[in-house]
Amino acid sequence: MSTGQKPTFRIVVLISGSGSNLQSLIDACHNNQIKAQITAVISNKPSVKGLDRATAANIPTLVIDHRDFSSRQKFDQHLLEAIQNFSPDLVILAGFMRILTSDFVSQFEGKLLNIHPSLLPAYQGLDTHQRAIDAGDSKAGTTVHFVTPELDGGPPVLQAEVAISPTDGPQDLAARVLTMEHKIYPAAAQWFCDGRLTSQNGKAFLDGVVIGKNGILFDINNEH
Ligand code: GAR
Repeated sequence: MSTGQKPTFRIVVLISGSGSNLQSLIDACHNNQIKAQITAVISNKPSVKGLDRATAANIPTLVIDHRDFSSRQKFDQHLLEAIQNFSPDLVILAGFMRILTSDFVSQFEGKLLNIHPSLLPAYQGLDTHQRAIDAGDSKAGTTVHFVTPELDGGPPVLQAEVAISPTDGPQDLAARVLTMEHKIYPAAAQWFCDGRLTSQNGKAFLDGVVIGKNGILFDINNEH
């Protein structure tokens, strides 16, 4: 921020690993593309790189290790309370690799975003790149979507495609997809923070217009 004044819109980011998407969001807040502050980063895994990225950006961090809880419900309840302490306007899952209970999800309905490394609704769940290669698909990609209780089943917002070449392995695809994620996640978060992106009754809307079932296709030449 050049003004020194912190924006009032508050984001909490949940991670489980490297946090390269988190980094793209931090950078977008710093350069004022996203007019918001990330008020906390919470990881369910200790000692991951994403926590270092948050610390380097002076963002408070918290580790809530799911292995310390006897059930998914107890973990989610604890996580819920921890997030609520930061009073977020938006909660962003950025490589957060835990399935959330519907009780948790319903608490953040309409303000919980996820990024999933496939062209949803194709390939919900894990091993998305390998599955796309095995199926002989010509393209893979990534989708930002609102989170609903159905795993990777909430309404898509923004989607980016990458071509699959015959020599690609899952790691090649993952790397190429990540570079697109770093463009579309800040873009979608920006829409949300600007009040342009909303969700109601299982549908996502941009500027009040319903978004189709695959989300908006990201155009690298016209970055919305
Ligand atoms: C990203 O590719 C994201 O789409 C994926 O994990 C990676 C996290 O990378 N998320 C999921 O698979 C969620 N189902 P990052 O930690 O470097 O941001």
